[in-house]
Amino acid sequence: MKRFRKLRKDGQTRDKYANVTLNSNDFIYPYFVVEGYNKRQPIQSLHNVYRFSIDELIRDIEEVISLGVNKILLFGVIDETLKDEFGTAAYISSNLVSRAIKTIKQKFPAILVFTDVCLCGYTSHGHCGLIKNQEIDNDSTLLFLAQMSLTHAEAGADFVAPSAMMDGQVESIRKTLNNSGFQSTKILSYSAKYASGFYGPFRDAAQSKPSFGDRRSYQMDYRTTDQAIDEIAADLEEGADWVMVKPAHTYLDIICRAKSHFKDTSLVAYQVSGEYMMIKAASDAGFMEEYLAMSEALTAIKRAGADYIISYYAKKYLNHFQNKNLLS
Ligand code: PBG
Repeated sequence: MKRFRKLRKDGQTRDKYANVTLNSNDFIYPYFVVEGYNKRQPIQSLHNVYRFSIDELIRDIEEVISLGVNKILLFGVIDETLKDEFGTAAYISSNLVSRAIKTIKQKFPAILVFTDVCLCGYTSHGHCGLIKNQEIDNDSTLLFLAQMSLTHAEAGADFVAPSAMMDGQVESIRKTLNNSGFQSTKILSYSAKYASGFYGPFRDAAQSKPSFGDRRSYQMDYRTTDQAIDEIAADLEEGADWVMVKPAHTYLDIICRAKSHFKDTSLVAYQVSGEYMMIKAASDAGFMEEYLAMSEALTAIKRAGADYIISYYAKKYLNHFQNKNLLS
């Protein structure tokens, strides 16, 4: 008989044998930013997550920094009346996200700022690209994504993170950044982004729901596997610095494949809004113990091979486990 139970006999022993652990450096914390002052709007579909005006955002960032978080991801959320078919508000000079970056960098120069680069929150039709002949047009969208990235880079973003799933978007962004003197601004590409039912709560938070159709003509089909590797390889060739698999919890196999294929590339996984709310809502209803489920899901993402995790749970996780014996 082989004795395994001695490895699990008490908390201290379990901690000693645990070879997958999470810490504050592993997290990228997502933020929704809105215009105005003094705003901290609850999001109906995403419990315990808020849309912040820039002044309130600064206050919250102070809190996450105290928990050890050193990376944040910004999404701009604008008024419906400011949206048009080209998503102009995304890349005009002094746009909402650029102003947020400037203020954050002034206050907290050491925090790494990532920005989501996509048109869906800014277009009147809610699609991630421009529309031509009733279709989402790939090539005419590229320059707009590049322009949006440039405004973020100028404001001081460390990473721009294109999530529109347009072919060639990384190349177009890289070229524009280089030509404008931003060779050192990095790109985190949402390379393997699947068309997912788990984005539902986010679209309410970011007010970015498509007004017709869905995103299946540009985001990946969840019945595909090797295509994720091809997407990542293409992005790396185009100049991506870090790459992403998204969603995370329902795509652990893809994370695992991606990590074993691209061992030296920093791999990010996004525990998306629906994956967060699955745990949150079930726990709030009393069906699960939130800390256990949250910790298990996040650890699984790391165990599968993610180097960094974007999660709405980052703050809660770190709050709960800080100064505590992590795994016992
Ligand atoms: C923008 C974008 C989306 C998410 C991140 N960036 C929504 C979408 O593709 O519809 C989803 C994040 C989440 O669900 O938490 N394209």
